[in-house]
Amino acid sequence: MSFSFDAGFPTTRLRRLRFHPLVRRLARTVSLSPEKWILPLFVKDGEESVPIASMPGQSQLTLSDLRAKVGRLKELGIGGVILFGIPKTKDAVGSDAMSDEGIIARAVKCAKDAVGDELLIITDVCFCEYTDHGHCGVMKEVSGGRWELDNDATLENLVKQTLVHARAGADMVAPSGMIDGMIGAIRKGFDENGYADLPIMSYAAKYASAFYGPFRDAAESAPRFGDRRSYQMDPAADSGQALREVALDLREGADLIMVKPALPYLDVVAKVKANFPGVPLAAYHVSGEFSMIKAAAAAGWIDEKRIVLESLNSIARAGAEIILTYYAEEAAAWL
Ligand code: PBG
Repeated sequence: MSFSFDAGFPTTRLRRLRFHPLVRRLARTVSLSPEKWILPLFVKDGEESVPIASMPGQSQLTLSDLRAKVGRLKELGIGGVILFGIPKTKDAVGSDAMSDEGIIARAVKCAKDAVGDELLIITDVCFCEYTDHGHCGVMKEVSGGRWELDNDATLENLVKQTLVHARAGADMVAPSGMIDGMIGAIRKGFDENGYADLPIMSYAAKYASAFYGPFRDAAESAPRFGDRRSYQMDPAADSGQALREVALDLREGADLIMVKPALPYLDVVAKVKANFPGVPLAAYHVSGEFSMIKAAAAAGWIDEKRIVLESLNSIARAGAEIILTYYAEEAAAWL
């Protein structure tokens, strides 16, 4: 980039772009639009909605809450929702996620029935909400009595899980497990079963982040033992590794790419955008990012609305045109 066209002071006065509010508005290159936002929603198999203590204003919804919620989101012009299911019973492989009668299948049908084609119904594809051990797939015992995620056995189940989503009518699936080969396996499963047109948004560069803390409350998915560092990315890894992840996922057939979390990883967002122009890029403003703002706002330490809009602007400015955020509904109402 070159700035040689600037004459320099006093001929150049950048403040001329800032005095008049309408000039400021005209000169903006980043704009926020709710149609580019996706609201994550938790759907619990049960009779009553349950507020999520660590995420003020968010709840585990019943199917009838979900129906009402998606109706409101459609009216607000929000782009879509991403659904997470919380089953009644969990087991070692997450069977509920692979059943056409499971909670996520029923949630997708219910949401599609309520809003038709006017709001995108996206599914999170992972097993951590459905397994009793809380890991993102099938586990196997390895040497020394340790348990590790079985990559290739998990791929088979991911195909079953995504076909459940496809049959229920999901508009898009978003695999979040960071399982090697997951995009290729899911793409092949779709193509062989009549879903060649169903898009995949890959959580391509997803870090093993402490910012997911409140989510694990919300989805009841904290691992019973160990952590996710053998499959999610190391926060201290070279950001070039994120580019390798993205390149692999695109080659396997990903249609949209995601970086997660958002604000602490804007360098990664910017690099992915620069290296893969033309690929729709999403960033996930995750639960910890949401809850920190909520907590500081509740204490009266920050201006919630301004902080949220500034955060969303930062994510968009870094290059993510799509933002997954728990603030989607509130922020759309503010705009
Ligand atoms: C995995 C998944 C997680 C999140 C989204 N999908 C949890 C995890 O990887 O541990 C976290 C989102 C958030 O923190 O808001 N199903």
